[in-house]
Amino acid sequence: METILELRGLTKRFGNLTAVNDLSLTMRKRSIHALIGPNGSGKTTTVGMINGTLPYSVGNVMFDGEDITGMKNHTIARKGVGRTFQNIKLFATMTVLENIMVGGHTLNPRSTNIVQYLFRVNNSLREETVLKEKAEAVLEFIGLKEYANREVGSLAYGLRKITEFGRALMGEPKLILLDEPAAGLNPSERVALIDTFIKAYERGTDFFLIEHNMDVVMNISTVITVLNFGTKIAEGTPKEIQTNPEVISAYLGRRYLKEVAR
Ligand SMILES: Nc1ncnc2c1ncn2[C@@H]1O[C@H](COP(=O)(O)OP(=O)(O)OP(=O)(O)O)[C@@H](O)[C@H]1O
Ligand SMILES: [Mg+2]
Repeated sequence: METILELRGLTKRFGNLTAVNDLSLTMRKRSIHALIGPNGSGKTTTVGMINGTLPYSVGNVMFDGEDITGMKNHTIARKGVGRTFQNIKLFATMTVLENIMVGGHTLNPRSTNIVQYLFRVNNSLREETVLKEKAEAVLEFIGLKEYANREVGSLAYGLRKITEFGRALMGEPKLILLDEPAAGLNPSERVALIDTFIKAYERGTDFFLIEHNMDVVMNISTVITVLNFGTKIAEGTPKEIQTNPEVISAYLGRRYLKEVAR
C-alpha cells in the first residue's frame, strides 16, 4: 500500500486543553479519507498541523514519503498539499479569475515548462500571462468559466465554495485538505461541489475530508477516522463506522437525535 499522508502521535495543546491527543493515522494514495467527530473534537486543529499553519511540538507528519514535521505552510503547499477553509477565505471585491490566480503563487517552478520558467524570471508580465492561462484552464475544469469576471462577493455561496476549490487546484496539489466543504450548501449546490471533487479525484488528487454532512461522508469516503475529544475512537469503511456503537453514542446518534428534534 502506498501512503500519501501519515500522522504519527500528533498532539496539540491549547493551555490546559488537549485539542488533539496522540493521533496516528495512515492515508493511502488514491483514496478519500474522512476525519469526522463532534464539534470541538480537533478536526480543524489536525488540518492546521498537517499543512503547517498551526505549530505543534509532539508528533510527526509524513507527506508522500517525506517527513514534513515543522515545515512552514508555504513549503508544504509547494510540496503538493492544498487546502480549503471552514470559513471561506476569498477576496470578495476581486473577480473569480483573480481569486483563482492567487492560488498560483505557490506554483512549483518545476511543474511548468522549464523554458517558459527561465524566460519569465524578472518578467512579471509573462508570469502574469502564464498564471492567467492556467487560471482560465482551472475555471474551465470547475465549470465556472462564465463567471470569470464576476466579483466573488456577488456570487451565490455554492459558487464561492467552488471558486475556493479552484484556487486550491492552482497549486497542482497531490492532496487537498477540505474543511467542511458542504457546510451551508443547499442540496443542489452540494451535488455540484461533490461532482467537482470527484472530477479532480479522478484526475489524480487525493482528499482528506472533514465534514459533518453524513450523506457526503458516507458516499464518497474510502476510509473514515473518528475523533472524540481529540482522541481517535474508530477507523474503518463507511459501513463499519455507521454501525460502530462507540461512534454512534459519541457522534452519529447525537446527530440523528438533533435532526429528529428539529
Ligand atoms: N487557537 C486556539 N486557541 C485555543 N483553543 C483552541 C484554538 N483552536 C481550537 N481550539 C480548541 O480546540 C478544540 C478543537 O477545536 P477544532 O477547531 O479543532 O475542532 P473541530 O473538530 O474542527 O470542531 P468543529 O466541528 O466545530 O469545526 C476546541 O475545544 C477548540 O475550542
Ligand atoms: Mg472545525
